[in-house]
Order: sequence, then structure tokens, then C-alpha cells
Amino acid sequence: MPAPPPRRKVPFEKGYSQMDWVRLTQTHPDLAGLGPGGRLRRGITLAEVAQHSSPDDCWTVLRGKVYNMTPYLRFHPGGTPLLLKIAGKDGTALFNKYHAWVNYDFLMAKCLVGMLAPPSSSSEDAAATAAGAEGDAGGAAAGANGGGPAAPAVDGGRQQPDGSAGDGSPGLQPPGKL
Ligand code: HEM
Repeated sequence: MPAPPPRRKVPFEKGYSQMDWVRLTQTHPDLAGLGPGGRLRRGITLAEVAQHSSPDDCWTVLRGKVYNMTPYLRFHPGGTPLLLKIAGKDGTALFNKYHAWVNYDFLMAKCLVGMLAPPSSSSEDAAATAAGAEGDAGGAAAGANGGGPAAPAVDGGRQQPDGSAGDGSPGLQPPGKL
């Protein structure tokens, strides 16, 4: 088994702790950027995701769900540059490589734009898929974040009513820690 990548936690700026993020998710009306009364979208293509790859407009895909990461960038404990590595593409493999136990489903719930379209045979999508897999473990690890959507083994953070994992790290559930 390959050694896990080094884990360097970046000191957060004042006002950008994980608790601040959870507070923002509870108060901000539209972190996903769907617009007033916006409904979750379906059938989003990787080609469309690829159009949102800049720091002020960045989407990613985690296990078939498309998230607007823009508001989370400065809150990410691993820093903005690492998060931008998955901007505009499927970030599942890289996310899992660093911290498969992090409960993005909870942390990013309000940033959900919608669902990725099922894989198609169109060449445009195939190209975007290849770009998303570039330079890392590729799509092979997609879906390795705890099995099916209904029973993610690493989603313990979701069980806390206030969203905290009880250790000041909301949405986190390191293996074996409870
Ligand atoms: C939307 C996607 C992501 C979310 C919601 C997220 C969330 C988090 C959270 C909550 C932590 C704190 C973990 C802890 O204290 O144990 C963290 C840390 C970290 N993340 Fe991410 N992350 C994302 C994507 C990424 C990506 C793509 C990378 C690498 C390319 C990455 C690298 C790191 C690193 C290096 C740390 C600090 C080391 C540590 O875990 O202590 N993250 N992330």
C-alpha cells in the first residue's frame, strides 16, 4: 500500500475556521450559487464542470455530485492551492487520497449544485473525464469513499446535531476515533 501523502495543516485565517464555515452554511442563503429559488440540477456534464475552474468560480465533482467550492476555498484546512487542484474536474480520487474520512457530504451540503450526468460516449465528455483523472489515481478511486451513498462508512460527523465531531473539527471522523 503506498504511503499516504504528507498532511500539512495550514493555519486558518481569522474568521475562516471550520466552525466559521459551519456557521456560514447555516446562514448563507445560496452557497451553491443556484440563484433565488434555485433547484438542484441534474445531468451536469464534465465539460460544464470544466468551465468552473477559477478561484472565483470553481466547481468540483465528488462521487457523482457537483459542488461549488468557491465559498469553501479559504476555509479549507489544507489550504486553497490544494483545493484548486480539483477545480473544474472530478476530485474524488485526490480527495480520498488525502482524507477519505472527511465528511464532505455534510460539509459541502449547501454547496451542492446537482448531479453529474451518467458517463456518456461523447468525445467531449471523454476528454473532460481524462482531464479530471490527470496526474493522479484517476477515476479508479471514485466511489471508494465508504461504499454506497446511503451508507458511507466514514460519515460519522453527520451524526452530531450541531455538525461538530466533538473535537472542534466539524464533519470529521478519523478512523477509529469516537
Ligand atoms: C471539497 C473538497 C475538500 C474538502 C471538503 C476538504 C476538507 C478538509 C477538511 C475538513 C480537512 C481537515 C481534516 C482534519 O483535520 O483531519 C482537510 C484537510 C486537508 N486537506 Fe482537504 N478537503 C477537500 C479537498 C482536498 C484536496 C483535493 C486535497 C489535496 C489535493 C486536500 C488536502 C488536504 C490536506 C493536505 C489537509 C491538511 C492535512 C490534514 O488532514 O490535517 N483536500 N480538508
